Amino acid sequence: MARPLLEVTDLRKQYQARAGMLAALHGRTRSVPAVDGVSFGLSEHETLGLVGESGCGKTTIGRIVLGVTPASSGRVVFDGHEITALRPRALRPLRKQMQMIFQDLDAALNPRMRVRDILREAITLHHRLEQTEVARRTSELLDQVNLKSAKLASFPHELSGGEKRRVGIARVLAVGARFIVADEPTSALDVSIQAQIVNLLRDLQTRLGLSYLFISHDLEVVELVSHRVAVMYLGRIVEIGPAERVARASRHPYTSILWSSLVEKRSDEVARNGAAAWGVFDFERPGQGCRFAPRCPVYEAAGRPAICTDPTSEPTLRDVGDGQSVACHFPLAR
Ligand SMILES: Nc1ncnc2c1ncn2[C@@H]1O[C@H](COP(=O)(O)OP(=O)(O)O)[C@@H](O)[C@H]1O
Ligand code: SF4
Ligand SMILES: [Mg+2]
Repeated sequence: MARPLLEVTDLRKQYQARAGMLAALHGRTRSVPAVDGVSFGLSEHETLGLVGESGCGKTTIGRIVLGVTPASSGRVVFDGHEITALRPRALRPLRKQMQMIFQDLDAALNPRMRVRDILREAITLHHRLEQTEVARRTSELLDQVNLKSAKLASFPHELSGGEKRRVGIARVLAVGARFIVADEPTSALDVSIQAQIVNLLRDLQTRLGLSYLFISHDLEVVELVSHRVAVMYLGRIVEIGPAERVARASRHPYTSILWSSLVEKRSDEVARNGAAAWGVFDFERPGQGCRFAPRCPVYEAAGRPAICTDPTSEPTLRDVGDGQSVACHFPLAR
């Protein structure tokens, strides 16, 4: 096993959210535990896929890991440095190595700058370079992301979605990234372009030795690109393991439902509407045992065993062999 590049331990994040109009009038807020005790590791040259329905905490984890959003508690260690304990100044030299590809294609591209200037700005962000060296690096980046040099004169609005994504990838490479949080990198693209971008990210990993935290609700893409996959449900990881095993031999009831819905080609619908259709965890009354119980078919089939809703026994990740860990009192049989 390659040495760990990233180690995340018992990460938690509470956001203060207004509890509704009436509560807001009285100045009352409630705390939303968006990330609620998450631990995982990532090796060099590895892709860890992070999946789960909208709102389960994926983006929050990505932002905390990069030091963009502060954690409420827990530890993030990148290449031996504890991100969660560093002051902004000490974080700066690590920042260039850790970058985010945003879901929004336009997020990282200044609309008033031409592609040439976007790349130049990124290339010279941490290095003073001669013009000739900037030009050499620019053409190397274009080559790496398969973009024609004619596009250097374009403004972002003149580019297609796929081209914007390529410029976005070139930009994070220009800064010097070796660890990339890719947050839904294909969701804003046409299906025909998605595969090209996925192949580009895989190719860059091989050529440059990159590591990815690959966030997506598109299970097919995640299974394709990831070495390991972590499945999140309401702020917690419920299953983690080798991509093929998590997808084909799921041990957590939730993981199994996610992937079987993919087989039925309803994955998008489940990802978007699942929480509403299946009932929602009450964030204000945590500690009621397993938070998946209200939606769990195994819990129903087993006659609602008390341990599943025992407030003192919320299931934690346990090693079930073959590199797989699962947070369930009754893991599915192999
Ligand atoms: N800045 C914020 N302030 C308050 N609540 C937030 C904020 N960002 C995210 N949340 C809430 O935290 C939860 C997790 O959000 P997020 O990490 O964006 O999930 P995902 O990326 O899986 O869709 C959601 O309930 C979301 O509404
Ligand atoms: S612990 Fe119980 S309720 Fe939770 S996923 Fe497992 S079987 Fe379902
Ligand atoms: Mg998100």
